[in-house]
Amino acid sequence: MADITFRNVTKRYGETIAVRNTSFTIENNEFFCFFGPPLSGKSTILRLILGLETPDEGEILIGGQPVNGVSPAARNVAMVFQKLALFPHMTARDNVRFPLVERKQPEAQIVARVAEVAEKLHIGHILHKPPAQLSGGERQRVAIARALVRDPAAYLMDDPISALDARLREETRVELKRIQRELGKTLIYVTHDQEEAMSIADRMAILEEGAVSQVGTPVEIYDGPANEYVARLLGSPMMNIVPALLDASRNSFEAAGGAIRLPAGVVPEETSNLGIRPENLKVAPWTDRGEGQPVTVFEVEPLGGHTVVTLEAGGQMLKALMRGQPQIAADSLVALTCSPEQMHFFGTSGETLAR
Ligand SMILES: Nc1ncnc2c1ncn2[C@@H]1O[C@H](COP(=O)(O)OP(=O)(O)O)[C@@H](O)[C@H]1O
Ligand SMILES: [Mg+2]
Repeated sequence: MADITFRNVTKRYGETIAVRNTSFTIENNEFFCFFGPPLSGKSTILRLILGLETPDEGEILIGGQPVNGVSPAARNVAMVFQKLALFPHMTARDNVRFPLVERKQPEAQIVARVAEVAEKLHIGHILHKPPAQLSGGERQRVAIARALVRDPAAYLMDDPISALDARLREETRVELKRIQRELGKTLIYVTHDQEEAMSIADRMAILEEGAVSQVGTPVEIYDGPANEYVARLLGSPMMNIVPALLDASRNSFEAAGGAIRLPAGVVPEETSNLGIRPENLKVAPWTDRGEGQPVTVFEVEPLGGHTVVTLEAGGQMLKALMRGQPQIAADSLVALTCSPEQMHFFGTSGETLAR
């Protein structure tokens, strides 16, 4: 068992609090992501798990055993290489063998372990080839095999594919997800890319200045962000968040100069901002008799499969994400509708309010 638990862990560097009173549990065999902006504490958390750093306060447990005083070597968790590049002058097989040869393991063990990993990663048939004769996807598999050939209880990766170009990154993250599922090992993964975190993680922790803001599956967090900070981090274009004002009659809440209007009954009283995701804003050509509020189109970005329409309403910019290529022109008037069920309500400190 290799579930990993932080109990109220704090790590300081002088005045800087890198990890702030943090608690979470990573379950055995899950693909767990830490996601947050630069300097939010992601790498420090990995170093604490590895044992390269010791907490100032709190407790770390691996497989239920406290490890605060345990050396990195005795923890049976391994950092996977930062770079997934292969040695060009070696065959795929020699690349995969390399970490075990370096550790002077007996030849019979090396042969058996390489065969086992090669089978799991479906690369047995290409092991005799040098990297130059492999496709991009095959090279990634071999590089990952080399990283996984040791057999620790949990693997850690710190932004492993951020240096790759966009296309190879997409390919590699699918490979990684598939491989983790096939290997059935705990994989702890750090990224500052929201799309990568969402696409790859079974569960993820969102970090803000060293503290965990929320833990859950990507969809749980996307649909139910705990606060404005989390709401803004996930999704592209990001969630529209606008001030909401109770009108003079106290009958309705208005936002974006009246373009969004909700009966007071459906909005929590303490609401200060409301949020709605771009895919939940409905935009249609304006007619006097139709539904919706008239708003002006500020700009249109056709992206092929979908189109981002930026609207200007009451001095606020709102983004709507539409499927396909709707016939909507900049500076035209459109009808905006949105449903209260798809809205998020935030209090004065950014916290999500229960409906
Ligand atoms: N060895 C260190 N010495 C001093 N400050 C550090 C050290 N490592 C990290 N920090 C600080 O701790 C905070 C978290 O850093 P880090 O864990 O590297 O964040 P991330 O990986 O999310 O970018 C930052 O403010 C960083 O400057
Ligand atoms: Mg880092």
